[in-house]
Amino acid sequence: MKRVSLAYLVAFLIVNAAADEWNYPTPNSNGVMSEPESWGGQCDNGRRQSPIDLAQAAAVRGEFAPFFFSNYKLPIKQAQLTNTGHSVQISNRDPAVTIQGGGLGGRFVLDQMHFHWGSEHTINSARYGLELHLVHHDIRYASLEEAAATRNGVAVLGVLFHVSAQPNMHIDVILDTAADIRNEPGKEASLKGKLSPHYLMPANRSTYFRYEGSLTTPACAESVIWTVFTDSVGVSLEQIEQFKAIHDQNGKELLNNFRSVQPLNARALVYATEWDQQDNNFAEVPRLHAMLIGLVGLLVATSKCLY
Ligand SMILES: *[C@@H]1O[C@H](CO)[C@@H](O)[C@H](O)[C@H]1NC(C)=O
Ligand SMILES: [Zn+2]
Repeated sequence: MKRVSLAYLVAFLIVNAAADEWNYPTPNSNGVMSEPESWGGQCDNGRRQSPIDLAQAAAVRGEFAPFFFSNYKLPIKQAQLTNTGHSVQISNRDPAVTIQGGGLGGRFVLDQMHFHWGSEHTINSARYGLELHLVHHDIRYASLEEAAATRNGVAVLGVLFHVSAQPNMHIDVILDTAADIRNEPGKEASLKGKLSPHYLMPANRSTYFRYEGSLTTPACAESVIWTVFTDSVGVSLEQIEQFKAIHDQNGKELLNNFRSVQPLNARALVYATEWDQQDNNFAEVPRLHAMLIGLVGLLVATSKCLY
């Protein structure tokens, strides 16, 4: 009896450890990645994977309505910072923190934010020091997990950080807390200060790359509408080095946690700018409104006739 339950426990532990057992390949002494990731499944076989190189020359022009950020300026409520063993992550449980517009075709709620040191996306092959991912799911789905099973169910905003002489005070809030959980993957701590998603975003949010891709960690689900802003945010070299001191699940320093760039294959890469309001005739809008109201009225009248 005792032996059976012990065997069960061991099997359970092995299965659960295996589920999270993936790593970023360690770079060689020249800082060059010696081998590609081989994470299996869709990560290896997918044709719509992320990240990619955002090459201006490969992109087509697009114009979308402006993004609309709801409650992005509010500090995250009861913010917890987690060392996931692959990154540091801040979860959001407030369903009122949402994005709309930007050609997304719906409303998406913020689930979590995490960082990659060494950016995942490159712009014209240039890598940035840090990349923030703000992960959202379409409110038509009950959870991020459910949305991740559907094409375009997840919207991730990618923010690139360039090295600057000036430290970033908002990143410092994260690093101050990260120091306490640095050596303990799986551990979380209350954020030692206020942090609003808005202050981690670039000033110019009207120019960005847009494409359909995947989550950049196993199981690499191909459900993500990607937005990577071309304007970047400053962070000091010393701050980037503090991220590198975070330990992974093997107790080693997580020196970098970016996945290698994936082929674009048959996808469109869009270089998007904001819909230029001056070039568009706003006189058309009230006329369209009047037409819609008329149409609704007609439908109501018709439905009344039917009953
Ligand atoms: C954002 O940046 C783009 C490209 O540099 C520029 O054309 C555009 O005018 C900027 N928008 C704002 C609101 O500053
Ligand atoms: Zn990420």
